[in-house]
Amino acid sequence: MADETKPPAPATAAPKPPPGPPAPPPPKNPGFVTCTIDGREVVVKPGTNVVEAAKSVGVEIPYYCYHKRLSIAANCRMCLVEMSNAPGGKLMPGCQMPVAEGITVKTETARVKDQQRATLEFLLLNHPVDCAICDQAGECKLQDYYMKYDQKPSRLDMPKVEKGKRVPLGPMVVLDQERCILCTRCVRFMREVAKKPQLGVDERGNESFITTFDGQPLDSKYSGNVVDICPVGALTSTDLRFRGRVWFMSSARSVCTGCSRGCNTFLDYLKETTFRYRPRENEAVNQEWMCDDGRLSYKYLNSERVLTAFQGRGAAARDLPLPAAAEAAAGALRKAAAGGALAALFSPVASLEDLLVAALVAKEGLGLSEVYVGGRPDGWQDDFLKRADENPNRRGLELVAQAFGLALKPFAELGPAIEAGRVKAVWAVGTEVPDPAAAAAFARLETLVCQAYNHGPLAREATVLLPAAPHSEADGTYVNFEGRPQRFELAYWPRGGARPHWALAAELGRALGLAWRFQSARGVWDELGARVAGSLPGFEWDSLPSTQKRRGLVPLAAGTVDGRLPGYRERVPTDAVGDTRMDLLKVTR
Ligand code: SF4
Ligand code: SF4
Ligand code: FES
Repeated sequence: MADETKPPAPATAAPKPPPGPPAPPPPKNPGFVTCTIDGREVVVKPGTNVVEAAKSVGVEIPYYCYHKRLSIAANCRMCLVEMSNAPGGKLMPGCQMPVAEGITVKTETARVKDQQRATLEFLLLNHPVDCAICDQAGECKLQDYYMKYDQKPSRLDMPKVEKGKRVPLGPMVVLDQERCILCTRCVRFMREVAKKPQLGVDERGNESFITTFDGQPLDSKYSGNVVDICPVGALTSTDLRFRGRVWFMSSARSVCTGCSRGCNTFLDYLKETTFRYRPRENEAVNQEWMCDDGRLSYKYLNSERVLTAFQGRGAAARDLPLPAAAEAAAGALRKAAAGGALAALFSPVASLEDLLVAALVAKEGLGLSEVYVGGRPDGWQDDFLKRADENPNRRGLELVAQAFGLALKPFAELGPAIEAGRVKAVWAVGTEVPDPAAAAAFARLETLVCQAYNHGPLAREATVLLPAAPHSEADGTYVNFEGRPQRFELAYWPRGGARPHWALAAELGRALGLAWRFQSARGVWDELGARVAGSLPGFEWDSLPSTQKRRGLVPLAAGTVDGRLPGYRERVPTDAVGDTRMDLLKVTR
C-alpha cells in the first residue's frame, strides 16, 4: 500500500536565464547611430548598412549583389568585413548588416583581404577570362576588383564548367551564362522594380544559371535596366553589343526626350554619333531607371538628319547658306503675315530656350497672336515612368505661350485652315506632328518654312528647310509634365550646318529686322528667362550637377598593330563646349 503520508519533494529552483547581450550603449548622437569604420567615426541614420555607412566616410567596401534600390540577397560575399559585434568573430556581409551604436568595423585587415581574394578566385573559377573581347570590358566589376583586390593567377587545373553563350533573353537583352556570377540583381529587379518577375535561377551549385521562365521572353518594357545593373558582362544590350568600346565614349548629362517624364540620362557619344542612353540618378524623377522605348529613342539623333539649308521643293530644292535661306524665309513669311495668311507651328520637342526665341520672333517679328501645337502622337503609358505624351517639353511650350500672350491651337485645326485657304504659309519650329498623314495638306501651302532635325513628311514639303540641332548638339531646358525644369547639356558640336532652333529663329528674327541678338542658350535664358521664371520657382540655369561627366579617350587612327599611333593617347578636349558656342555666334552676327 502506498504511503499516503509521505511529504512532497521540495520544489527545485527555476534555472536562471542565461545572461542576454549587453544593453546597447546610449546613442552618442541622439537620433543617429555612431560607430567607427577603419578608425573613422561615422554618424548615420539608424538602419544604414555597413557598405553605405563606409561610403559616407570615403571607405570603399567592394560588392556585387548589393544594390541600394533592391532587396538584400547577400549571396556574393564580396563585402565581408570584421565587425566588433559579430557572433564568434565571424566575417559579416556589410551589405546586410546595419551599423549599431558603438561598434567597430574593419575593412582592411588581413582576414578581410584574404576573404576578398578567395571570393574573387571562387567567382572567376568557371568564368571565361577573356576580358579583351567581352562587351562589358571597361564597365565590369570583376575586372576592376580583380585588379584591385586579387591579382592572383588561377589555380584551376581542370576544364571550366561551360554554360550557354549568347542566349537571347528578349528583344533588348542577351545573356552569356558563363560570365554570370549569380548575384541575382537582375532577378530582383524584375520582381521588385519592373513588377514582372520574368527571370529566375535554374539548377544548383556550379550548374546554376539565370534564365527566363519557361517559354517566356524577357519582354518587360523596362528590361534594359538589367543590363545596367548587371555588375559583370553577363547581360548585354542587343542594341549596343560590340558597336563601341565604352572607354572611347564620352558622356553628357542629358534628358530623355521619349516622353514628358524627362528621365535623366547620360548620353554616351563618340565624335558626332550618339551610341546609347543610360539612366542618370534623380530620385524625384526616375530614381535610376528608364524604359526601353526611351532607351532606344536616341536613334533620330543619328539618322536622316537635315544638315544644310534648302530652298525649293522636290527636284527644285537647292542648298544655300543659312543667312540666305533665312532671308528668303523671312521675306515669304513677312508677306504672308501682312496678308493674314500665316500660321506658326511649334513643336513641344523643342527646348524652352528654342521656344522663347521662336515666340519672340512670332510675336514681335511676325505679329502673330496664336500658334498651333505640333509634336509626336501619344504612345503607351503605365503607372511607373512612361507617360502617354511623348513630347519632352509640352509644359515648357505652354509656359512660353502664356508668357508671350500667344494662344495655343490644336494641330487638328491647322489642316482644315490650310484646306480652306485661310492659311497659306506656315513657319514650323520642329516638324514632329501628331498625325503624319495630315502633313499631306502642307503640300498645298505657298510657303512652308521648316526648322527640322530630320527629313520626314513635313520637311519634304518645305519651301525653305533650315537644319536644326537636337538636344545632343545643344544646351537647353525641358519642363516635364510635373512642371519640373531639367537642363541638358551639349554633347558634341552641331553636325554639318545644323543650329539649335533658337539660333535659327534668331536668324529669322534678324532677317525680319528684330534687334535681339543671342549668343548661346545661356544668353537666351539671361535675356528672356525672366518671362517664364515665375512659373519655375527655384530653377537656376546652371543647375546641372558638375560631377559624373565622363570624357572618353579619342579612338586613334589605324596604322599600328592595335590601331593606335605609338605612344599617343589623348582625352577629348574639355573646352569644346565653349568653342561650340562661339561657332553658334556666327548665325546671329
Ligand atoms: S546576369 Fe548579371 S545581374 Fe543577373 S545574376 Fe548574373 S551577374 Fe547578376
Ligand atoms: S519613361 Fe519617358 S522619359 Fe523615361 S525613359 Fe521612358 S520615354 Fe524616356
Ligand atoms: S554585396 Fe554583400 S554579399 Fe554581395
